[in-house]
Amino acid sequence: MGTVKTLILGSCGMLGQALCKVFPEAVRLTHRDLELTDRQKVIASVKKIKPDVVINAAAYTDVEACEEKRGLAFRVNGHGPGYIAEACAGTGAILVHFSTDYVFDGSKKEYVESDPPNPINVYGQSKLLGESKIAGNMKNYRIIRTSWLFGPGGKNFVETMLQLSEKMDVVKVVNDQFGKPTFTSDLARKTGEIIGLKPGIYHITNEGVCSWYEFASSIIGNAFPCTSEEFPKNAKRPEYSALLNTKTGPMNHWKEALKEYLRERQNVDKAPGSPENGGT
Ligand SMILES: NC(=O)c1ccc[n+]([C@@H]2O[C@H](COP(=O)([O-])OP(=O)(O)OC[C@H]3O[C@@H](n4cnc5c(N)ncnc54)[C@H](OP(=O)(O)O)[C@@H]3O)[C@@H](O)[C@H]2O)c1
Repeated sequence: MGTVKTLILGSCGMLGQALCKVFPEAVRLTHRDLELTDRQKVIASVKKIKPDVVINAAAYTDVEACEEKRGLAFRVNGHGPGYIAEACAGTGAILVHFSTDYVFDGSKKEYVESDPPNPINVYGQSKLLGESKIAGNMKNYRIIRTSWLFGPGGKNFVETMLQLSEKMDVVKVVNDQFGKPTFTSDLARKTGEIIGLKPGIYHITNEGVCSWYEFASSIIGNAFPCTSEEFPKNAKRPEYSALLNTKTGPMNHWKEALKEYLRERQNVDKAPGSPENGGT
């Protein structure tokens, strides 16, 4: 059997960067290289590159901004994945696409892959449209729903907490929203396995459920619990959304994953050439 040619879309994003490490031979396209909302270009790029597998990590992920820019959210997260699926159906490539726990409203608390979605914000609605566009355009897809991503190279909760902790005596964090934190490196490694499994929807997160406050308390020493009412937001969020994986083996606990991430961060800081060691 020949080697598998993989194309990663959204390669500069937080998850995209982790995927590039796991698939070092993959062809990488960033937002600058390919605009997902341009149907002709999406189809032409896939046709030209001829990948066996397309992994799409590109998305409009700013949950608050999606409320304001509804049209853009639906074009990027809804129609864009549909164009990629059309392209993959045309060339016979497998499509791996990432979706979110925000396709659920949180009332059931724990969700298996077959539970009916009911998003309560624009981001979740746009991501759900993406799922249905993919399923409507091709058969050989893997949709991986995940949640609360953290990892190097992105704006994420762990980095925000570390920064706030240095600036403030006490960091207030909401203690009434629950979910499953997930390390991008673990998810990227697991993606390799999912490609070899049957088409369909997969729920992939690190193990363990916690509130944002509990998560924060594992990162910094000065977190203090508060309610969501103290931090009003435009986008509603599910109060409790735990994705249950019924299709493949579990990943490690988020606390182990967090330790690995914090260890890696420290090693980067200590590496020769890093700012702490005289680099610029
Ligand atoms: N982050 C989370 O907590 C979380 C939770 C559940 C699911 N997910 C899903 O996981 C996937 C990866 O998320 P992430 O956190 O790695 O996202 P991210 O860091 O925001 O990266 C997304 C990438 O998509 C690119 N992009 C945005 N609009 C585009 C467009 N119109 N055309 C082409 N590229 C575009 C962005 O480029 P620019 O920055 O240059 O625009 C960015 O590089 C997404 O599908 C997301 O919905 C994320």
